[in-house]
Amino acid sequence: MAVLTVVIAAVLGLCFCAVALLRWNELRYRRRALPPGTMGWPVFGETTEFLKLGPSFMKNQSARYGSFFKSHILGCPTVVSMDPELNRFILMNEAKGFVPGYPQSMLDILGKCNISAVHGATHKYMRGALLSLISPAMIRDQILPKIDEFMRSHLSNWDDQVINIQQKTKEMAFLSALKQIAGAESTSISHEFMPAFFKLVLGTLSLPIDLPGTNYRHGFQARKNIVQILSKLVEERRSSNEEQQDMLAGLMRAEENRHKLNDKEIIDLIITLLYSGYETVSTTSMMAVKYLHDHPQVLNELRKEHFEIRSRKSPDDPINWDDYKSMKFTRAVIFETSRLATIVNGVLRKTTRDIEINGFIIPKDWRIYVYTREMNYDPYLYPDPFSFNPWRWMDKSLETHNYFLIFGGGTRQCPGKELGVAEISTFLHYFVTRYRWKEVGKDKLVKFPRVEAPKGLHIRVSSC
Ligand code: HEM
Repeated sequence: MAVLTVVIAAVLGLCFCAVALLRWNELRYRRRALPPGTMGWPVFGETTEFLKLGPSFMKNQSARYGSFFKSHILGCPTVVSMDPELNRFILMNEAKGFVPGYPQSMLDILGKCNISAVHGATHKYMRGALLSLISPAMIRDQILPKIDEFMRSHLSNWDDQVINIQQKTKEMAFLSALKQIAGAESTSISHEFMPAFFKLVLGTLSLPIDLPGTNYRHGFQARKNIVQILSKLVEERRSSNEEQQDMLAGLMRAEENRHKLNDKEIIDLIITLLYSGYETVSTTSMMAVKYLHDHPQVLNELRKEHFEIRSRKSPDDPINWDDYKSMKFTRAVIFETSRLATIVNGVLRKTTRDIEINGFIIPKDWRIYVYTREMNYDPYLYPDPFSFNPWRWMDKSLETHNYFLIFGGGTRQCPGKELGVAEISTFLHYFVTRYRWKEVGKDKLVKFPRVEAPKGLHIRVSSC
């Protein structure tokens, strides 16, 4: 009997302890609050201030609430993180519940198998398939010759013309990628593909309201057209005996397609490839032209590097891997351009559950804006941060420091970094060795929410 009483008492004691522990945890959880900040108006939140004031809205809020604050932007409750340590932590810890949190319009239009829409094991194999297409060996052997051939032709006959360099770099980024993806057919499909692609891009950045006349509806229709073009291409390739050497062929060849992608996945991966490299490559190229125009000393140094490469070759010799690897100053110009112009302001994540971070709770399904812009102007990382000084990147360690997030970080770090740099370098090679240019028209540049010249960036071009 005494033993039974002891056992019952022990069980009751344990139950009591467990309940007390749960209750204590609950209270502790409740006491921990959301990050400080304001949420603005119902529904609209602080979207208008965010879009209108841009970086100064972020600075004002962080001056008031610190570098980790809540807001309500672009239709979602959002925590903005401007803290370098937390930004790194969030990017490095997708598995702890910080998955990509891009807008619904983007996910709808880019497809269910788009890389930003998939997580965990699916992300791993989709990314694996992508990396096998754009590895350094593939760039060296297959892609660089295509980029070279494309740039030579794209940059011909610009002499004595006024060019909208924004338009030209956009076409360049799209057409060059299309040639890498579907070499043989790229010219014949580009007339239909390019306008559809530009509509798709606009649609991904719109409100997801499916009404006639909206960018969202146009973007969705454009996706359907693009899927049709690509499906037809895949069918034609299957029924033909011709061997192709391009990204689509790599994805379709069963023995190379180790990741066993089905046709839907192949098509969404191609759209991912086109979309991810398009705006980043085109805007960096345009801004490099702008900064080089404004900094003749940098342009001289860059020209020296490229004329030296040309002096080793005959006029028709293409740029090869060794030439590309020798373009140290060009690489520095590209990184300095990305930094100073802040081509990517930050990346978006979404919480898959309530997460405690830095003593605050971020509820499930909130967005986190990992805002990396300010890190680009940190005087400790980049002395005299507002000057255009590519020489700072000649010290290679700057490219590998912990807070270098121009290409993102963690498991989502840009897999197209080397490909993008190779494309911009080849563009700059032919541009600075063939032409001189002057800006005309005093075009305005906008830096936020994205870098663009609303009316184009016009330059008068003449032969060197
Ligand atoms: C040179 C300019 C480029 C810049 C500045 C850039 C920047 C970035 C950044 C910041 C991310 C991280 C996004 C995130 O964490 O949510 C990213 C991801 C990505 N980039 Fe790039 N990118 C560039 C060029 C390219 C090119 C040329 C390609 C084409 C292959 C590409 C393909 C991708 C893909 C597929 C992802 C998603 C990776 C994943 O989710 O695993 N990027 N890029």
